[in-house]
Amino acid sequence: MALWSGRFEEGVDAFTQRFGASLPVDKALYAQDTQGSKAHAAMLAAQGVISQEDADAITQALSDIQQEIEAGTFAFDVNDEDIHMSVESALIQRIGSAGARLHTGRSRNDQVATDTRLYAKERAGQLMAANVRLRQVLIEQAEAHEDVIMPGYTHMQHAQPVLFAHHLLAYTWMLARDFERLAAARKAADANPLGAAALAGTTYPLDRFATTQALGFSHPIPNSLDAVSDRDFLLDLMYAASVSCLHLSRLCEEIILWSTAEFGFITLSDAYSTGSSIMPQKKNPDFAELIRGKTGRVVGDLMALMVTLKSLPLAYNKDMQEDKQGALDAADTLEDCYICMAGMLHTMTVHPEAMLAQAKKGHLAATDVADYLAKRGVPFRNAHEVVGHLVLTCEKRGCNLDDLSLEDFQAESSVFEADIVDALDLHAIVDARTTYGGTATAAVAQQLVEARELLAKDEQAIQLP
Ligand code: ARG
Repeated sequence: MALWSGRFEEGVDAFTQRFGASLPVDKALYAQDTQGSKAHAAMLAAQGVISQEDADAITQALSDIQQEIEAGTFAFDVNDEDIHMSVESALIQRIGSAGARLHTGRSRNDQVATDTRLYAKERAGQLMAANVRLRQVLIEQAEAHEDVIMPGYTHMQHAQPVLFAHHLLAYTWMLARDFERLAAARKAADANPLGAAALAGTTYPLDRFATTQALGFSHPIPNSLDAVSDRDFLLDLMYAASVSCLHLSRLCEEIILWSTAEFGFITLSDAYSTGSSIMPQKKNPDFAELIRGKTGRVVGDLMALMVTLKSLPLAYNKDMQEDKQGALDAADTLEDCYICMAGMLHTMTVHPEAMLAQAKKGHLAATDVADYLAKRGVPFRNAHEVVGHLVLTCEKRGCNLDDLSLEDFQAESSVFEADIVDALDLHAIVDARTTYGGTATAAVAQQLVEARELLAKDEQAIQLP
């Protein structure tokens, strides 16, 4: 019989028992559950609500239970609805009435909120650490290829040449923002609901500040109804995970393109590729595809909880039991994606010559030729048109801008002189973009310094104050 069965005459139906249970999912919160219970028991004893002997017996038995769960020897009873019931039933079986006193002044409503917040806080910290490790790999690859030129794209059309390092670093800034979002989610989880009891607080002289301190929360939640009803911190965590997965999916898309025969910009290592069961020649970028695909599920996890919480009245409603599956999944998935992406980038081979060969196509110097004229007094719009004509000439002849003779240039504008060849050089084009945040070698070197500085700062921030 369930621990709440006093007012019932019949046991629950086997189907509804299974349907209503969350144990298969919230098992994962066993450590947070025993941690929360120990803090509650110690506080009850300090407040004189239970005896110190009872608190000691509870603490010891909770440690034993936790150890057994970790060793895989704890016998979970499938009739227990959730991890809270599993642990408490075992406690009562082992130490009798002392165990039965643990739940004084507490409800599963504040208990589950406490466990979930402890879990979310810890997982957010672990995700922040995995985020930093991935950024480290991106920065290392940027440093290793500081002088590699690739075509930069807009609309997937050749636009202007950029440094490959510049392109990779763009992702470190995206991931740095993800780090901030994860940190914000961790902060949102960092508040103590314990002591809210079922919804209204309790008649026992609980010290909510003591459990706050014992559990490492920054403050007790000021409203007991809000304490048991709030799952915003999970939305925040899943939103952070969703955006970060979106970022990874964009990088995956590029990795997939770059490893095609058409691009040939990179080769993924064997460890991060798979073969085909029918086509012996195939080497597929499966893991980049998989990360791209998993993004859909993580975004789905966020959507699911948003819809579950929509219109829920205060305070606890059983709907909220649906919160954990998606949140745990989103955190686990993002962590795996970070690890996979870091390994994939660390082991890939870059082909600078293939990137350069592509950068030479598509008239990437066109903007700079127009700038050449504009800097010599030709209004930019007119210069734009002149270069448009030159590109058209190239298209008709099937050549590039740097194949044209000085006479060809001068036929379109008398302003062109022999030094126009300088405006056509890809390295010179890249290095001329010295604006802060631009693609010039010097600007990218500066960017690398800043990316490293932020990485070091974020590494520190993983440790809670
Ligand atoms: N298994 C529940 C959950 O995960 C625990 C809280 C249940 N509280 C209750 N009064 N039914 O949300």
